[in-house]
Amino acid sequence: MEMKKLLEDSDNYLMHTYNRFPVAIRKGRGMKVWGTDGKEYLDFLGGVAVNCLGHCHPKVVVAIQKQAQRLIHISNYFHIESQTKLAKILVDNSFADKVFFCNSGAEANEAAIKLARRYFKESVGQNKFEFITALNSFHGRTLATLSATGQEKFKKGFDPLVPGFRHVEFNNIEAIEKAITKNTCAVMLEPIQGESGVIIPDPDYMREVRKLCDRHGILLVLDEVQTGMGRTGKLFAYEHYGMAPDIMTLAKGLGGGVPIGAMLATDKIAAAFEPGTHGSTFGGNPLACSAAIATIDVLLEGDFVLDQCRRMGKYFKKRLEEMKKEFPSIIADVRGMGLLVGMELTRDGAPLVKACMEKGALINCTAGNILRFMPPLIITEKDIDHLIDILEQIFDQLS
Ligand SMILES: Cc1ncc(COP(=O)(O)O)c(C=O)c1O
Repeated sequence: MEMKKLLEDSDNYLMHTYNRFPVAIRKGRGMKVWGTDGKEYLDFLGGVAVNCLGHCHPKVVVAIQKQAQRLIHISNYFHIESQTKLAKILVDNSFADKVFFCNSGAEANEAAIKLARRYFKESVGQNKFEFITALNSFHGRTLATLSATGQEKFKKGFDPLVPGFRHVEFNNIEAIEKAITKNTCAVMLEPIQGESGVIIPDPDYMREVRKLCDRHGILLVLDEVQTGMGRTGKLFAYEHYGMAPDIMTLAKGLGGGVPIGAMLATDKIAAAFEPGTHGSTFGGNPLACSAAIATIDVLLEGDFVLDQCRRMGKYFKKRLEEMKKEFPSIIADVRGMGLLVGMELTRDGAPLVKACMEKGALINCTAGNILRFMPPLIITEKDIDHLIDILEQIFDQLS
């Protein structure tokens, strides 16, 4: 379709929920994508931390093709081999004993909120329902996950929200302690705040939160929708902190590009969900689960991809730190863990995203002035050098 016509049709037929660039992407392979006009882009956005193995990884493609020929969808009234297999892989590689599958990050967090509340009401017999979450957090767009989200800008016009959410300063253990009441059922946090600008807490913070939850007999829910599936150099970010949650949510990278979410919990807590208490028509669908199995197989094969992520994360940060020295009036901070990397600017970042795109690189700007990079974990030094060249050209013109 001609670009002008596509823009017109999109405007006419789609709800205007996204600010889209006037570019349509038709094809992707590894680190690269191509627009309908044939223009090539190096992808440091990765579908917002989704394409962990790059675009169209051959093993994921073959898994999808094979499964599509056999069975695409079947109801959860039946056992689904790939769903059970995927659950076992996740359990074998995490703190958790049981998994519930859904289709997105918001749905995984919804499931976590419901499970924590039901655990206290039905299993423990206490009317605890309140969540403590962090200011500047992001947990999704459904009503409950929006209520959990600690950013007012996403909530405007959607009142009344779901009651039972208190927001406290991130990386401040006293703030959580002060907010705990007899009604508190859980603390819910991102191990690294992604959407609000790659905010990494002190390593002690997460361990202290764990201890605090144990002391008060409340649950700890970690939203690893963005940090999970190897993004930070370990399969799950909580592993960096030497602690584990009671409930964890996943989505984004889990299916290597195919929509799938998961909520994982220990046996004791998971037992609060009985038949009929929660569900999802598409959750754990054979096609999505086959894609996820193939994705995790590649992610965990000989630790190669995770090791690559750790090494490239270090290299990327080093190159960005060098840039910070070169452009101190433009770059305020560089931070990151693995390949979730942020560059805080002293100015608005949107024009830089546009300039990068013109020069053939896709990046993201979040929270107004933070450039966020979430490239596929298979990235190489050459790809990073290419982006640094582009950024340097743009920054040279600014300074
Ligand atoms: C930490 C976190 N939680 C939840 C979500 C919501 O995920 P989804 O858009 O798949 O519903 C996001 C999305 O960016 C996220 O970053």
